[in-house]
Amino acid sequence: MTDLRVGVVGVGVMGADHAERVVRKTSGARLVAVADADAGRAEALAGRLSERSASTARHSGGTTHAETVRVVEDPMDLIAADDVDAVILASPGFAHAEQLFACLEHGKPVLCEKPLTMDAASALRVVEAEHKLGRQVIQVGFMRRFDPEYAALKQLLDSGDLGRTLLLHNVHRNKSAPPTFRSEMIVRDSMVHEVDVARWLFGEEITRITVHTPTPTSLVGDGVLDPQLAVFELANGAMADVEVFVNFQVGYEVRCEAVAERGSATIGLGSGVFTRAGEQWGGTMPADFRVRFEQAYDIEVQRWVDATVRGEIDGPSAWDGYAAAAVCEAGLESLSTGKPVDVALADRSEVLG
Ligand SMILES: NC(=O)c1ccc[n+]([C@@H]2O[C@H](COP(=O)([O-])OP(=O)(O)OC[C@H]3O[C@@H](n4cnc5c(N)ncnc54)[C@H](O)[C@@H]3O)[C@@H](O)[C@H]2O)c1
Repeated sequence: MTDLRVGVVGVGVMGADHAERVVRKTSGARLVAVADADAGRAEALAGRLSERSASTARHSGGTTHAETVRVVEDPMDLIAADDVDAVILASPGFAHAEQLFACLEHGKPVLCEKPLTMDAASALRVVEAEHKLGRQVIQVGFMRRFDPEYAALKQLLDSGDLGRTLLLHNVHRNKSAPPTFRSEMIVRDSMVHEVDVARWLFGEEITRITVHTPTPTSLVGDGVLDPQLAVFELANGAMADVEVFVNFQVGYEVRCEAVAERGSATIGLGSGVFTRAGEQWGGTMPADFRVRFEQAYDIEVQRWVDATVRGEIDGPSAWDGYAAAAVCEAGLESLSTGKPVDVALADRSEVLG
């Protein structure tokens, strides 16, 4: 069987991580091309990864082929290229819509980092265009669904052992964010993960969102509303809350507690080596999402490759990306008014038949 030839668009923090993952950890796939608006960044990564695969080949006695990762100047040319079977889209969210339409035009399977697009209307157009194509080729990078702890929580809740799930309490904290990370991005880029988690764990759509803004931390620039506390109301009457705090200073922390009729279950409490030394006790906190969710990303990309080879997707769909965009759009309105906002979601059966 020949390897799936993958191209990565956007090789900043996330794209470089995925590119490396394809080269180092993913079976049945190889990285053939990268593209980035910053050509120098793409050149540097391609050089580093080409060297690495050459060295892997040397050390494995020649059983692995040394590959050259080429740089394609225009992302649209990478998407169109005959030697690229599938695309990982890790450009900024504002570039996704145009690049997704190009993937659909060329029938290229794509793992698109969240958010699917920047607003609900363009996300819905993507869903409709994929539906017209007649097969699912878009998978959205809501990787928490692949995290072993989240997957175990989902399994437990679905088993019914704890009775019906009533509530979710979520905490999502980053050590720090750049000053360019404004209040709206906290909703659209960070909270969007909990939006997907709530929809996925409950198997229900979110119908209303309220975003509360307590007194901001003094450690961020003027006007940035950080932290934020949101409440989601779901179609079945369940509720979820989430604290998102992107300048927490300490480390990366993601927790989720589900409260059900006969018990509760919590994930994200941290594990690893517990030490007692120097009048301190405890463990360490991951510095960022790449560490905390490394396994989730690995599993996500491997399962995406395996599914793509079968002509399928295996994870969050374009509809999931659209539904999350619709919730975030309502969340942005609530952020500015402080009031609950109903989510305007298209009728799924009308859109998808
Ligand atoms: N799933 C997750 O946990 C997770 C985590 C972080 C980021 N992300 C998502 O990944 C995407 C990239 O985020 P990042 O943190 O790597 O950002 P980044 O700024 O580090 O990288 C973005 C890269 O895209 C390049 N770029 C800009 N415009 C482009 C265009 N039109 N076409 C191609 N490349 C372009 C930039 O030069 C940069 O190298 C975003 O959608 C973000 O929301 C997801």
